[in-house]
This record gives sequence, C-alpha cells and structure tokens, in this order.
Amino acid sequence: MKIIDTHCHLNDDAYTSDLDKVILRAKEAGITHVFNNGDSLPSFSKILSLQERYPSFCFSVLGIHPEFASESDTYFEEAYQFIRDHKDSISAIGEIGLDYHYSKDPAYVENQKRRFIEQIKLAKELNLPIVIHSRDADYDTLEIIKQTLPPKLDLHCFSGSYEILRQYLLLPIEVHIGIGGVCTFKNARVIKEVIENSDISIFLTETDCPYLAPVPYRGNRNEPSYLKNIIEQIATLKDLTVEECATILYENGRKFYDLPRE
Ligand code: NI
Repeated sequence: MKIIDTHCHLNDDAYTSDLDKVILRAKEAGITHVFNNGDSLPSFSKILSLQERYPSFCFSVLGIHPEFASESDTYFEEAYQFIRDHKDSISAIGEIGLDYHYSKDPAYVENQKRRFIEQIKLAKELNLPIVIHSRDADYDTLEIIKQTLPPKLDLHCFSGSYEILRQYLLLPIEVHIGIGGVCTFKNARVIKEVIENSDISIFLTETDCPYLAPVPYRGNRNEPSYLKNIIEQIATLKDLTVEECATILYENGRKFYDLPRE
C-alpha cells in the first residue's frame, strides 16, 4: 500500500528528538511522500532543510498562516521574496486562508483577507496549487475563492458542510478536500456525511501532524504512519476495501502534487 501525507508539519518542535524514527515508521507504513506545510517565515527554512535531509520523501509547501496576518509589510515582503527565490523547490503555497476561531476583530479579519488574496496571486504567478486553512470562516473563504479562482486548491482538514463543498464544486477550478484524523472521531457527523456524499476523486489524505491524531491515538502526537487508520475509516464510509481505497487516494495525491508515476 502506498500513501501520501498531503499536509503535515514534521518541522514542528514535537519531532526534534525522534524525527528519524518517525520517518522510518512512516516508510514502513507505506508513506511515500510527506508535504510539510509552512505557517510562519521561520518555518520556511526549516521545511526546506527537511527536504534536503530526506530527499524524495519530504516536500515543501510554503505560505503564511492567517494567524500571522497582522505581521508587518516587511515580514510579508520577505516571505514572498523567499518563496520566489525558492520556487523550484516548492510544491504549493500553504497553508494560507482565514481563521476566525480565536478573534473576529475587524482589523485582524481585514489583514487575513488581504494576505490570503496576496498569496493566492503569488501562487497564480508561480503556477502552484494552494493549500487552504479555513476555520470558522466558510463563507468568507468561499467568497475569496470565487473572486480569485485559483486553478487548483486543497481545502485542508475540510470542516465545512456538504452544502458548502457543493458550492466550491460548481466553480471552474480543481477543488480537493484534505481528510485527516477527524473522520475517525465518534462525533464527527459532518465530515462523515461529506465523505459519504462526495466523489472520492476529490479526497486527499493528510495527518496535519502533530495535531489531530486519529482514533485510537486521539489526543496524542500524530504522525504520518497513522494515515492507515484514516484510510480504513474512509474505506468503510465509501464501501471499498482498504486496498482499493488507498490506491485511489494515492493517485489523487500524486496528481494534485504533479508527482511522476512510479
Ligand atoms: Ni496544518
């Protein structure tokens, strides 16, 4: 079984002491590629150094998370310059988007929208897909996507309803949703409904590790080798064997990131 972790954070401090072992376990579990996503400017060089340390296994997705939207113009100019300078080493722009979970302060919201739109433009300029983080901001995110129409996107850790997904799917762009540990949670009714009602061709497997570990690891540090538990859940909901499901999901990830056929 071959599996791609389309969204994770192995650059996180949670792995400082045992990253080699985490990667070994991932490879033993069939993981062939992991895509580390940036959040802040300091995360960029860490992510690229993982790509150098684990070539053909760790890949880089760079962008500024909405949490940092109130950083200065200089900060963002530096981030955009870094991305342009390293564009040949980058697989996508992310994670970028809107997050209203902790604050809906109008100035903060305006900054988030402005920086999100700027980064979508950068992705278009560099011809890269985008990885979106959207939390408690479903309709504003959709509105920006409608206005900017980035050709290829991943709604990472999708938490919206089937109804909102349907609106994305009406757009003339390639829309994918990232599915992670949440779908294994007992009370995760909305995402289970989304999985049952949607075509499997839009799904991407992700851990978002170190966060959101699937059952039976819920609450612990997450890691790419746990993706098998997520795929088992998707297979059950789609009435497929785990093997069939994994093959389709691998192919979805391979195409999204334009990886060569092996
Ligand atoms: Ni993430």
